Amino acid sequence: MQDLENLYLRDKKYIADTYTRIKLEPDYGEGCYLTDANGDKYLDMYSGISVNLAGHSEESIVNAIAQQSGRYIHLSNNFICRPAVELAEILVNNSFAEKVFFTNSGTEANEAAIKLARKYGKSKAKEKAKILSAYNSFHGRTMGSLSLTAQVKYQESFKPLVGDIDYFEYNNAEDLEKKFSDDVCAVFIELIQGEGGIVQADKLFLEKLSVLSEKYDFLIIADEIQTGLGRTGKFLACEHFDIKPDVVTLAKGLGGGLPIGAALLGNRCKDIFSKGDHGSTFAPNPVASAAGVAALKIILEDGFLEDINKKHEYLVYSLKQLQNLYPEIIKDIRGKGLMLGIDAGEFAQIIKEKAFENKLLLNVTAGKIIRLLPALNISYEEMNKFIQIFNYIISEKI
Ligand SMILES: Cc1ncc(COP(=O)(O)O)c(C=O)c1O
Repeated sequence: MQDLENLYLRDKKYIADTYTRIKLEPDYGEGCYLTDANGDKYLDMYSGISVNLAGHSEESIVNAIAQQSGRYIHLSNNFICRPAVELAEILVNNSFAEKVFFTNSGTEANEAAIKLARKYGKSKAKEKAKILSAYNSFHGRTMGSLSLTAQVKYQESFKPLVGDIDYFEYNNAEDLEKKFSDDVCAVFIELIQGEGGIVQADKLFLEKLSVLSEKYDFLIIADEIQTGLGRTGKFLACEHFDIKPDVVTLAKGLGGGLPIGAALLGNRCKDIFSKGDHGSTFAPNPVASAAGVAALKIILEDGFLEDINKKHEYLVYSLKQLQNLYPEIIKDIRGKGLMLGIDAGEFAQIIKEKAFENKLLLNVTAGKIIRLLPALNISYEEMNKFIQIFNYIISEKI
């Protein structure tokens, strides 16, 4: 305890104070659990904010990391990197994409997509540079992605932002149309807003986006950094919706826990970037790529995605039973696959705190939404344990 307290103080002293820490120093992770130095096991219901798709320290991922780092850890982009080629091939073979541009993170994947969109626009007309994104969205924290992230709390201190970006109200087809002109080169959209509180795009809105894309020549860029790679029960969330993106951005679990991001490029934009247009010293890191190949092999195993949908049904059914008992606490349950939001209003934060006392790790987003993003291979036993602790906390009338 003394040691943990000391580490906590050193963390505060030496690391810039941009995150709120839970007072837990995990000793090791295994599947859906994190264990501390005392041997206390915590059930992790958000898997590193959706990074550890196959749970903590999954064996085939650990082995892939060990093997690849024994061969080489980094190459410059002057060389052919086998694990990167393999990762790109898996992404292309399982999606609409024809090529992949690799980055190190989600925000960088969106930065790449911004540059791509601007180059696409310029190839059509000099003024075609405007990019649209939604209010309440989250696209990352570097200046381009931040400029797309239309939330005052993220943007205000960092103005001026990147120019020629405008915002529409999510799920408001009329407002989207109002913002359009021939100058628009791209629309960025999260098909389910994650950070914004698990808010799903509706059918009419996406229909309007598709109609507009026939009238005006622009790229539809789906930010699937949170929704992609099986999280919603499909390899990409866009498969649930009647929408054909030109670009999908990915990161989170793409490297099996190691940092890597990607922009998946469809037919219309696969050759927009030419030599020297964009690049990175580090991306794609070979070890992250090898770990990513191992992670994607798990997600693409026969029946794995179908199982996610069954787990969704089971969790939603169990949570709805609790909602019937405690409607004043659980106001809404929403989401797809294993990306679920429980609207607990003013109770969300206290539930999170009580959960920690009961060795359950929960994440809260948008102030009032308990966001569940467990490992995709979570077992029924683990889901039952979550429901049991959650039930216990809310039945205590907090
Ligand atoms: C939808 C979405 N876009 C972009 C990002 C930024 O990704 P990163 O933190 O890897 O830069 C996130 C991260 O949470 C995200 O959820």
